[in-house]
Amino acid sequence: MLQKYRIVLLAMGLLIATAMISGAQTETEKIDGQQIYEDHCGKCHDGGFKGWITGSPKIGKPKDWSEFFPTGLDTLVKWVVTGEKGHDKKGDCEECTQEDIRAAVIHIMEATKDDE
Ligand code: HEC
Repeated sequence: MLQKYRIVLLAMGLLIATAMISGAQTETEKIDGQQIYEDHCGKCHDGGFKGWITGSPKIGKPKDWSEFFPTGLDTLVKWVVTGEKGHDKKGDCEECTQEDIRAAVIHIMEATKDDE
């Protein structure tokens, strides 16, 4: 009788452990837009000398983005990925996927909105 309980408990323990491990995995797989932004986009979009020389719209300055944001997220992501509007292809991030770029653009939008 006791033996049966032990097996049930063990099975429950295993289930919880697996749930915790897979939970942790989805956490690390989540794309960190801020990190991508800081690694690849900030050198231009943070302003500073490179931002000035390239004429980049600056993060946190809604006016700089007023001609871009109304275009909508999907189109902006496409422009950055393809470079069709004159942007450096993928914003200088060769290894970035479209989803990475999207996360970085969302970060720009949120950070710019916050500082308004
Ligand atoms: C070498 C400098 C540089 C880097 C690096 C850069 N940008 Fe840009 N970005 C610009 C400039 C300059 C513009 C102004 C308009 C243009 O040239 O397209 C711009 C415009 C944009 C726009 C408006 C849409 C467009 O295509 O013009 C978005 C969105 C954007 N950048 C996102 C990003 C993201 C996300 C990254 C990083 C993955 C990034 N940028 C990296 C210089 C840069």
